[in-house]
Amino acid sequence: MIIDRSQPVLFVIFGATGDLNWRKINPALYNLYLDKFMPEQFAIYGNGRSPRSNEDMRAHLLEGVNTFSRQGKADETSWQLFSENMTYHPGDLKDDKTYTTLAKYIADCTKKWGKDPIVIYYMAVSYEFFPLIAQHLKDHKLADDVSRHRLVIEKPFGKDLDSARALNQLLCGLFDESQIYRIDHYLGKETVQNILAFRFANSILEPIWNRNYIQHVQISVTEQLGVGGRGSYYEHAGALRDMVQNHILQLLCLVAMETPINFQADEVRNRKVDVLRSMRPFKPEDIKKNAVRGQYSEGWIEGEKVTGYREEVQVDTQSNTETFAAIKFFIDNWRWDGVPFYVRTGKRMHQSASIISIQFRDVPHMVFPDAAIDNWRQNRLIISIQPEMSIRLQVQAKRPGLEMVLNTVDMVFNYDGTYGSESPEAYETLLLDTMEGDQTLFMRGDQVEAAWQILMPILHSWETKKSIDFPNYNANTWGPETAEALIAQDGFHWYSISPTSHQTKS
Ligand code: BG6
Repeated sequence: MIIDRSQPVLFVIFGATGDLNWRKINPALYNLYLDKFMPEQFAIYGNGRSPRSNEDMRAHLLEGVNTFSRQGKADETSWQLFSENMTYHPGDLKDDKTYTTLAKYIADCTKKWGKDPIVIYYMAVSYEFFPLIAQHLKDHKLADDVSRHRLVIEKPFGKDLDSARALNQLLCGLFDESQIYRIDHYLGKETVQNILAFRFANSILEPIWNRNYIQHVQISVTEQLGVGGRGSYYEHAGALRDMVQNHILQLLCLVAMETPINFQADEVRNRKVDVLRSMRPFKPEDIKKNAVRGQYSEGWIEGEKVTGYREEVQVDTQSNTETFAAIKFFIDNWRWDGVPFYVRTGKRMHQSASIISIQFRDVPHMVFPDAAIDNWRQNRLIISIQPEMSIRLQVQAKRPGLEMVLNTVDMVFNYDGTYGSESPEAYETLLLDTMEGDQTLFMRGDQVEAAWQILMPILHSWETKKSIDFPNYNANTWGPETAEALIAQDGFHWYSISPTSHQTKS
């Protein structure tokens, strides 16, 4: 990416004292600074409720960098130079004074820099504050320049279709869509971006990327972590809202989308919306057969006892919130007609891994004798997003020896082996894109609504029908048995990689 480092940029972070800034935003900005992607003139203006001095705030954020930055502990000189650009201004989001202080700061920076800066308003606050901040920015004329003023909105974007629509209406009434950057951090992940490169930069894939060759697709995003200190948020979210509506459906779009005619943000996003619009809607009677929910109970993970979901802090002891979801989708278009897309996600699972598995159809006619094909497996393409970053194509090969015995081997592209160097964090990519004004990796309003629309029948059904068997999976397992049944009824198994050997298990 070519950046114009002479264009000043001002980041305004609402919620600067929060966890997101501490863990993600500030370490990402610091890494961009280290890697010389920050402009020559920049400032980071933090807003939060609690009073703190600049020094306190800088010390707190340095601790975050030292704990979470992929480049390790900050060196003193670089941090000093970087953090000089950072100030903290406490203020209530409801109070006009908060915005007049901000306006004055922007005017001072503009004067000092002798040039109008790009101003990026980052809403790292709970979603109920989005409308309030947006309205104040408008009232104080702080975001009127479409070419220079941008708003970054964290997820969740709404809690259902109606609220997402209302938020879109409000934001699009105040600003231009080109100013709104709805974050889904999965889209900034290196391996996720590579799905587009892999699919559309290699001519050998397109002829087989369809229902004629692909039997089914699996998208699995599993986490060992529980909900930790986020119980009060998670109770109202659940796995569907927290992971499926955004990250998983975005991954599905990248696998299933048609070829864009160019790499312009709207062209790429149009093709993704096409996928969401082609997805088969769920009728109430289909839900039981195609969607499975789960909630974890206690267990042991890596030698440590972990509590069940209902015992987590700020969680109802009779909670009906799902911490696991598995769903079978269909995409009703020419490319994918009849190809099931199975997705699953869960907390407190046996392993943390995000993997897309594309299983190809079997050979049309078997020429090998039974004795040769004991370990026979159909071709599979495994895109491993994390923790391993790789793409592996599983093919059959003859095992060396005097007899004809076949087994499955992997042709592997592994990031570590090929590139060696560390990849940027998703937030680095996304923050750089906001400075550049590139919306390709951000969700457009219609995309968010289309994703909610698909899930609304399931959300409604799960909310209104209390699960009678929760909790229904132990921590450190692969989720409820019904999730196995969902895929086994079609004759398939969930794919999993052994973390140590990278050998296929299923
Ligand atoms: C977030 C969810 O969006 O993504 C979390 O709110 C989840 O619950 C996280 O743990 C997973 O992200 P990653 O990058 O760790 O896979």
